Amino acid sequence: MSEATGDGVALPRPQDVVARDLCRRLAREIVAPIAREADVERVFPAAAVRALAAEGILGAALPTARGGLGWDALQLSHLYEEFGRVDQSVRGFLSVHLGLVSQCLHEFAAEAQAAHWLPRLASGEIFGAYALTEVGAGSDAAAIATVAEADGDGWRLRGEKVWITNGLSAGVFIVFATVDPALRHKGVTAFLVPGDADGLSRERMSGVELGHRSSEHARLRFDGVRVARDQVVGEVGGGFKVAMGGLDHGRIGVAAGAVGTLQACLDAAIEFGRARRQFGRRVADFQMVQQRIADMATDTDAARLLTRRAALLAVHGVERTKQVSMAKLFATEAACKWSAETVLLLGSRGYVNESPVERHYRDAPGLRIYEGTNLIQRIVIARALVGKDTRQGATS
Ligand code: CAA
Repeated sequence: MSEATGDGVALPRPQDVVARDLCRRLAREIVAPIAREADVERVFPAAAVRALAAEGILGAALPTARGGLGWDALQLSHLYEEFGRVDQSVRGFLSVHLGLVSQCLHEFAAEAQAAHWLPRLASGEIFGAYALTEVGAGSDAAAIATVAEADGDGWRLRGEKVWITNGLSAGVFIVFATVDPALRHKGVTAFLVPGDADGLSRERMSGVELGHRSSEHARLRFDGVRVARDQVVGEVGGGFKVAMGGLDHGRIGVAAGAVGTLQACLDAAIEFGRARRQFGRRVADFQMVQQRIADMATDTDAARLLTRRAALLAVHGVERTKQVSMAKLFATEAACKWSAETVLLLGSRGYVNESPVERHYRDAPGLRIYEGTNLIQRIVIARALVGKDTRQGATS
């Protein structure tokens, strides 16, 4: 990896340098060596994730009082970038465990819930998963059909979730269910469900994914799963804000992961361009190659700056939904474009999985889809600019 590129734009604070250097070393030593085999075998790299847990990484987003490292969103953006640089499946695991689950619970859970679950998540004793998506409710999150029926002093959940990252091995789920589908988003409620709950079953999604092949993508079935009243996160009917708040954390992780893909592709293109000679010259000395390297470097820095801005707003607790969506949109589109261009530059060497570039190229489209497709990100950005047409009440 080139050390010469990438860091100057971040204007890192001392704590960012510590986070970046630790994650860069762990990504190289623990994740990079197993990434290719895990992708080929389509196996979640549990041993590598446990090794990261031993280094405290699974608690990075939580305060030290909960057993975490106490990193803020800027430090976390370095974490996601460094792991995304070597393996999007591990980065995706971390975005869900740290962002969608740990940070979301830290923000919305009651003290007793936080005291019970957060130390376990921080140590890696259990993994977290976020169960929102359904067959009939992907982009339209308010259309979920998993129902929560009142049952004495608690609830029973019935329904099905799909494409749940970390879903096979998670020890705790934030499950979004509706107390009344007619209420749309005002009926959505967030529940904490342990992985061993009676009536919960899980299986791997069918089919072979284009990328993120060592991620766990699971189908969950809730067959009358009993949830105690004190396991509701936030208010009954207040779960949509919990879901969106979780995505505000998680989407920074996707954006930063895409910056990692961009940096990895830029490093590979520079290394190849310097080493490979054709027509008696270094490939990097041809202007068509230089144009691509210059444009890729510029887009990489632009994606990184948008991501750091979104993270900085999170550090200051400022409203940032639009800026998070802008970072996710720009960085993931750029990752798709430049991973494809890097395959072209490297030719046959980028077309086989002996080069990680082949995997980056297959993983990048998933970044456009996970945690809200880039079409949804555009809706979020546009609504923040022009407002929603409340008279029609229709989703644009
Ligand atoms: N934070 C807090 N509140 C928010 C919010 C945010 N970021 N975004 C919206 N809200 C609030 C609104 O203010 C509104 O509140 P009021 O009732 O007080 O007015 C309420 O939520 C409803 O908002 P909208 O009217 O905008 O809702 P909508 O139904 O039109 O949908 C949407 C908005 C942005 C399209 C939303 O449905 C969305 O983000 N969809 C994409 C879902 C998604 O990202 N899924 C990915 C799941 S996770 C994953 O992929 C991977 C995995 O395994 C975990």
